[in-house]
Amino acid sequence: MIKLTTQSIERSKVELLAIPVCKDADIHRQPTVKQLIAQATGLSEFSGKDKQHITLYDPKGTKIKRCLFIGVGDLEKLDAESLRRFAGRAVQKAIKAKLKKIVLVVPDATSIDTETADVIRAVAEGASLSNHVFDTYKEESTDTPLKEIALVLPTKVTPKERAVVRRAETVTQGTLLAREWVNTPANDKVPAQFARMITAAAKDSGLRVSVMGEAQLKKKRFGALLGVSVGSANPPKLVEMVYAPPKSKKTVVLVGKGVTFDTGGYNLKPSSGIGTMKIDMGGAAAVAAAMIAIARLKPKARVVGLTPLVENMVSGKATRPGDILTSFAGKTVEVGNTDAEGRLILIDAMAYAIKKYKPDTMIDMATLTGACMVALGDKLAGVFTKDDSLSEAIIASGQATHERCWPMPLPDDYKELLKSNVADISNMPSTRYGGAITAALFLSDFVYDTRWAHIDIAGTVYAKKGSDYCASGATGFGVRLLCDLIDRL
Ligand code: BES
Ligand code: ZN
Ligand code: ZN
Repeated sequence: MIKLTTQSIERSKVELLAIPVCKDADIHRQPTVKQLIAQATGLSEFSGKDKQHITLYDPKGTKIKRCLFIGVGDLEKLDAESLRRFAGRAVQKAIKAKLKKIVLVVPDATSIDTETADVIRAVAEGASLSNHVFDTYKEESTDTPLKEIALVLPTKVTPKERAVVRRAETVTQGTLLAREWVNTPANDKVPAQFARMITAAAKDSGLRVSVMGEAQLKKKRFGALLGVSVGSANPPKLVEMVYAPPKSKKTVVLVGKGVTFDTGGYNLKPSSGIGTMKIDMGGAAAVAAAMIAIARLKPKARVVGLTPLVENMVSGKATRPGDILTSFAGKTVEVGNTDAEGRLILIDAMAYAIKKYKPDTMIDMATLTGACMVALGDKLAGVFTKDDSLSEAIIASGQATHERCWPMPLPDDYKELLKSNVADISNMPSTRYGGAITAALFLSDFVYDTRWAHIDIAGTVYAKKGSDYCASGATGFGVRLLCDLIDRL
């Protein structure tokens, strides 16, 4: 729970008060805060540089047990991300100290040339995103999330600012939910289980949720999707989430790749690549968690979330390399490689969405290619679209949320690389070069004239190393991006 207050700092009893300190400028208005900072910067080891921090215990004239000063660097470079990182670091310190509460001092917006609401949003987001521990599988948990986070403002709290905090909480709860799902091991989230997890989480959100099983998918001829799931003992599911406000004028469809485990199939992944493949449902996690948040945020547009859920396994029934599948759209696909399974489940879900919902805009999010990771590393997602305004909107959302996105090309002549001698198209390009692009081009062949973008999150869904507001493991990437994007479409 995040609270907004204007409590007096000198009079309140606080276990941990955290203050962001700028290296070359005063960004606070309260005299007590200024005095405290002077004490900290009076020490030679602390100047407010980024990554520095220092704790003073029981500072004179206050009832503060621990006063934590966190360096945020130069004023010139101070932005929303610096504030998220400040709050994230502070919350992690409080969790490590086994506290239940923290008080964060919100800097004065005018001194950093921005709006109070923006400053509050960033601090609330960083704090909330950091306040998470994935310990479901530990008998004894060492760390426990805080029960209460209070933000102290230099000015009176307005209703707009309270709304900003509520929104930040709703959205970041979505990110944490996606992290939980992605971190869950594949033996506990086979398609049926994951579908139940989504349905349970969406309860009370106002979303209409329905789940299609194998029999229905067969009847409706989801041939490409079924070709992926057929090798698994765990049958596939397609979760459909609908947020439909009255009088909506536009429909947005979000599709998330939900491969609950990707062995590669008969084109088996090597030991070096298979170990983390429980994360291959990160797109579905982001879409489902974003849908739940969106239903609470109540945007104007109708928004539909679709998550095809399958497990890509090997068995006597599994699809073989060279098999030909008939997709939902009717086109045949030669399975040149069983490890290029994500695009197979996505084309069926997208073709179904186009037919049923006639979207004005469709966005798919997927851990689609290792090649995208090679191209952009683990901090940038690749954006593929022929629509410039859609590209701009996604890049802008990436900047606003710091879930960064980078525009990638969709060159028509590369489509040749997907030619098949025996079917309408092959899921395996004839070269490994440009693998993220050929994957996106494969998808593009099934969206016709729908305004569509594909976001490849293979690199960003998982962090080997923890950072200021995200522990190592699942990042929940995409939830904040999609929630922000809905209002820009
Ligand atoms: N799930 C993988 C992509 C991936 C790799 C995600 C690493 C996250 C981290 C996807 O299904 C896959 O295996 N793609 C192949 C495609 C190839 C066979 C055309 C790849 O990227 O090598
Ligand atoms: Zn694969
Ligand atoms: Zn995959």
